This record gives sequence, C-alpha cells and structure tokens, in this order.
Amino acid sequence: MKLLVLGGTRFLGRHLVQQALDAGHEVTLLHRGRSGPGLFPQAEHLVADRNGDLGVLAHGHWDAAIDTSAYVPRHVHTVAAALAGRVGQYQLVSTISVYADPNAPGTTEDAPLAALADPQAEAVTGDTYGGLKALCEAAAMEGFEGRCLVSRPGLIVGPHDPTGRFTWWVQRMARGAAGGPVLAPGEPEAQVQFIDARDAAAWMLRQAEQGHVGTFNLSGPEEPLTMRGLLDSARTALGNPAPLVWVDEDFLLAQGVGPWMELPLWLPRAQGGLLQVDITRALDTGLVCRPLAQTVLDTAAWAASAPPAPADAPPRPAVGLAPEREAALLAAWQAR
Ligand SMILES: NC(=O)c1ccc[n+]([C@@H]2O[C@H](COP(=O)([O-])OP(=O)(O)OC[C@H]3O[C@@H](n4cnc5c(N)ncnc54)[C@H](OP(=O)(O)O)[C@@H]3O)[C@@H](O)[C@H]2O)c1
Repeated sequence: MKLLVLGGTRFLGRHLVQQALDAGHEVTLLHRGRSGPGLFPQAEHLVADRNGDLGVLAHGHWDAAIDTSAYVPRHVHTVAAALAGRVGQYQLVSTISVYADPNAPGTTEDAPLAALADPQAEAVTGDTYGGLKALCEAAAMEGFEGRCLVSRPGLIVGPHDPTGRFTWWVQRMARGAAGGPVLAPGEPEAQVQFIDARDAAAWMLRQAEQGHVGTFNLSGPEEPLTMRGLLDSARTALGNPAPLVWVDEDFLLAQGVGPWMELPLWLPRAQGGLLQVDITRALDTGLVCRPLAQTVLDTAAWAASAPPAPADAPPRPAVGLAPEREAALLAAWQAR
C-alpha cells in the first residue's frame, strides 16, 4: 500500500509510520521538518507547512492518507484540493472532544456535535478544539465523500507522548517506596479510558489496508477499567509497595486541585462521561488493546531515557502534582 501520513514524526503519527514501514508499506510523510529530525530515512518526506502552499502534493497517488495534524477545517479543505482525487481512503484523526455534551456517559458516534459560536474562528484553545475538529470532520466528509474515515480518540498514551499526562502517573509510581503513599483521587470505581498510541495506530493502519469508511470512537481498554484498576496495575507493574490513599473529590476541589492536568486522568463525577465513551464500533472493526502493564512499562522505559523537549518546542501546560503538594494534601486529608 502507498500511504501518505500528514504528520507522523511526533507521537501517534510516529507509531503509525513505524508500523506501516514494518508492514512493508511505502510511506510518504508531510510535515514542516521540526519534530523528530532524522526519523524514518527510508520513507519519503515532503516538507511543507500546511498553513501555506501544499504544492509538494501536486504529484503522486496514494491508496490512503492518514491526517494526524488537521486542527482547523482549512487544513482539510487545502489537502482535499491539493490531492485532487489522487488518494483512495482519507482518514481524519479527530477527538472525542467533538461531542456537544462530552460529559454524558456511553456516548456513541451518533451523538450531537459541538458547534462553535464563531464558525470562522481558527484559534485552537481548550474551548474551540472540539468545535474546530467537528468542522474538520464536516470538511473531510465533503472533500473526500464516500472514502472518508473519522477516528475520535480519547486520551492517547504511551511512549513519545508529549503531553505528559498518563506518563505522570507512571513516573509517580516509578518513584517506589521513596515516593511515599500515593494520593489516589476521587472514586476508586470511577471508569477511566485511554488508548495506547500503538494500538490506535494499528487499528488505523488496518482500516487503511481494508479501505473502511465511517466514524469511530477510539479508546480503551476493551473491558471497562476503573481508576483503582489503573493505579493498582501501575503499582504492581513498577513494583511500588507504597499504599494508595483515596482522597475524595469534594476535598480535592476544595483544596483547589485541578482535575485532568494537575491530577491527570482524574475528573469530577459530573465530567466522568468523557472517560466512558462507547467503543463498540472500534472493537467490532478489530481494535485490540495491549495489556495495561505493557503500556505502563514501555512508557516508564521511554520516559526514563527521553531527551528533554527541544528549546524551540511550543510551551506545554504544566502536568501533575508536585511531590510537596501531594504530601501536604495527604497530611491535610489525614488531619481533617
Ligand atoms: N494526545 C491525545 O491524547 C489526543 C487525543 C485525541 C485526539 N488527538 C489527536 O491526535 C492527533 C495526533 O497528534 P500527534 O501529535 O500524536 O501526531 P503526530 O503525527 O505524531 O505529530 C504531529 C505531526 O504534525 C506535523 N505538523 C504539525 N503542524 C504542522 C503544520 N502546520 N504543517 C505540517 N505539518 C505539521 C508535525 O511535524 P512538524 O512539527 O515537523 O511540522 C508532526 O509530524 C492530533 O490530531 C490530535 O488532535 C490526540
């Protein structure tokens, strides 16, 4: 198969390209040449900024294109125009943030989508990200009518994750006994969902090979996992003997602890639906999730040896509780 990856040198796309090359596919990447310099010398690299001229796409034919780097509908329109019918299947990597009510549990692909107050807006912020991706989806359906697949991943985790969210928990557990008791947030039985980037990539590649179309929530694991299950698995995989201390939501919120970023994967009850989307359709089309321990161990190994982000990398929001803050919160919880 001739595969075009729009992106492909950072995280999800990087795994996708690696797997495609391993499977013997002929891969072309389009990127600006900033992330992952020197990666994949055996592939064809088209260097362009998709906010500008896409003349580099003027020649060639691909069986499938997987677009990991479209954030505003203009990105999709320009690719559709540049490829002018010289691609079979087009896959847009969207997000579960497209839903109008992302907090409702059990959301299926048919749920209503978010609408932006200003459909011309292009600034990607926490408020506009989902609405913009919904417009990207509409642009994809129009520009690649009848041959478009949209995946809506939940939290993507694993080696090379630049966001540091799941990785923070892995590194927290990797501190072992020296890290002391672990603050475990909220309801032990609250469901959590995420997908190893390598499993998402394998599913996407399979859909490309089979030319499937449609819209798919893409998260894991296959069987529902609780916050307790996640933290216990990570502790066991990394051999951390320190106990978990469950601290309830009201206390954490009263102490000003920030859900999701300061305490990754923790969401207040009212927002828990974001971690309970319906993934039946992805499972029915071949999604396989590797054992959690493998994701934990591989993420730990990668994080321990990952080079620091390049100086010119865009700034990222802070992630995770500082050790002193965690200790102070635990002391206050126990003293209440
Ligand atoms: N992370 C999550 O938890 C999560 C959850 C749901 C959905 N998603 C979606 O998953 C997708 C995957 O992101 P990723 O970072 O893992 O993908 P990736 O393909 O590994 O990395 C992004 C790629 O896009 C290229 N790129 C960025 N801006 C560009 C531009 N203006 N012109 C040309 N190329 C550009 C980058 O290379 P250069 O920097 O060299 O240009 C890089 O190759 C995103 O669409 C995101 O919305 C992520």
